[in-house]
Amino acid sequence: MLFRSTMSTSPDIRVCPSGPEWLAQACGLFRDLSAQAIQSHGRCVIALSGGSTPKALYEALTSTDWKFQCQWKQMVFLFGDERAVSPDHPDSNYGLAQAALFRPLGIESSQVHRMTGESADLEQAAEEYERTIRNITNCPPPAIPVLDLVLLGLGEDGHIASLFPGTPALAERNQLVAVGRSPKGISARLTLSLGVINRATVVLFLVTGAGKAHTVRAVLQPQTPAERALPAARVRPDCTRLIWLLDDAAAAALTR
Ligand code: 6PG
Repeated sequence: MLFRSTMSTSPDIRVCPSGPEWLAQACGLFRDLSAQAIQSHGRCVIALSGGSTPKALYEALTSTDWKFQCQWKQMVFLFGDERAVSPDHPDSNYGLAQAALFRPLGIESSQVHRMTGESADLEQAAEEYERTIRNITNCPPPAIPVLDLVLLGLGEDGHIASLFPGTPALAERNQLVAVGRSPKGISARLTLSLGVINRATVVLFLVTGAGKAHTVRAVLQPQTPAERALPAARVRPDCTRLIWLLDDAAAAALTR
């Protein structure tokens, strides 16, 4: 099912039925996109998204249907954002990935680089994570490192990672990692900045549910300047692919 986008960058928009079919498409994209990076340069540096959507993806990827299809040992895991909590906190994005993905697959701790959300000094934690990313990618400043694959969810307010509308983190242009502020729930966050997200080789949005339909339409088929300025609408990879994988509920407000 094809939909046109009125964004300046024409993303690859894919829609499929909710549930098992959407999960199969998500796992297939994860398998294929990571394999392409590994084939190209021997590894895939992935930034995982947060929130609740990834849980179903992780559970599918660790199932016997998929876990043998991915080259896990050639993957390096980063995080797109983290809440200001300890890794064992129920809201920790790392904690979810550790329990639902890394531990079941036996991913080596050396392959995983979490953001230290529990730090008392988040600005310092952001600087430390920037150093981590630069070391992993061997990319000294001022260049912006190229991550192979960035997974993103979509907030109902149009946020991505922890880049919320109207916040300084969204406007950050120099740092790779910033301190974000959420208007709901756990306020303080660590987040990749838009600059490093837009330098990724592939950005893959994974969005499901009727609750996101309005926001999906606003981002992909904006009708006002405010909608064009939404954080998710500002994800336009400079170099290559932008893919949206939507279930039919999240795509319901799109027009052909
Ligand atoms: C976070 C996420 C955030 C998330 C969206 C969608 O830490 O909360 O990074 O950007 O991806 O809010 O969240 P759901 O998947 O829970 O709908």
